Amino acid sequence: MRVKKAVIPAAGLGTRFLPATKAQPKEMLPLIDRPIIQYIVEEVVACGIEDILIITGRGKRAIEDHFDRCLELEYYLRAKDKEEWLTEIQQIATMANIHYVRQREPRGLGHAVLCARSFIGEEPFAVLLGDDIVKGDRLCLAQMLEVFAEVKATVIAVQKVPLAEVSKYGIISGQEIRPRVFAVQDLVEKPKPEEAPSRWGVTGRYILTPRVFGFLEQTSPGAGGEIQLTDALKVLAKEEQVFGYAFTGRRYDAGDKLGYLKATVELALEREDLGPPFFEYLKNLLVGRE
Ligand code: UTP
Repeated sequence: MRVKKAVIPAAGLGTRFLPATKAQPKEMLPLIDRPIIQYIVEEVVACGIEDILIITGRGKRAIEDHFDRCLELEYYLRAKDKEEWLTEIQQIATMANIHYVRQREPRGLGHAVLCARSFIGEEPFAVLLGDDIVKGDRLCLAQMLEVFAEVKATVIAVQKVPLAEVSKYGIISGQEIRPRVFAVQDLVEKPKPEEAPSRWGVTGRYILTPRVFGFLEQTSPGAGGEIQLTDALKVLAKEEQVFGYAFTGRRYDAGDKLGYLKATVELALEREDLGPPFFEYLKNLLVGRE
């Protein structure tokens, strides 16, 4: 039971990032010099998964254009002898088999995942949110695939969140059966701090079994009038084993302004070309503020 397909939901309205997302998809906002969603596609490809379904919607055409060939640009770069750029531009269009389906209305993450049903069929599959970046020594998805290969059941990426922030997450309850792996008993969407069963928050990576589709179909709109993936996972956890996995690495919610800023700064500091001068700049800036 190998995971051969990944789904990237990218049809949300991105209201937390307005007005920047009024006329462009938040998944296309740049983290330094590439759009957020490219980092996610690269993570999937680096894990050996070549078939990717991106869930798009109105106003998201730029995503398709980004992963397609751009013949005028290729012609121009070739004519100007900019081979390095040419190779990079061509690689973006050929690194994976990218498929698209449109979610006609943004009815929530659960509904977006349900749009992938006929593409996925009866196989386990990965879901990576279009605005969730994880950086670390090992790719988050690779860690999760390793756990999946052992448990052969649904694996949800979780991270410990401050008590004051539990109401922004789906929170799991369950036993830590071995380091970093939890047997999930229940999930609660956006609980109040006093009602949270733990501080382990669900983040933007999942490996799901196809049974989830049946539960998604039966899920009625929950918090915010949206069909929540957490609600379907809650039912799934009653019917079959579901595991939480506390991945290693730093995660950024790049769909949130502060998360986006943190991701930009940290990725820039890691870059060989930009890191040293950017570090100097930040150091001087911060010393000046003390
Ligand atoms: P978010 O809740 O972060 O996306 O969903 P959003 O709804 O665009 O954000 P805000 O709160 O309005 O700023 C996580 C991921 O799920 C996708 C989003 O595009 C994002 O990548 N999503 C969300 C869908 O594909 N469809 C939906 O109906 C909702």
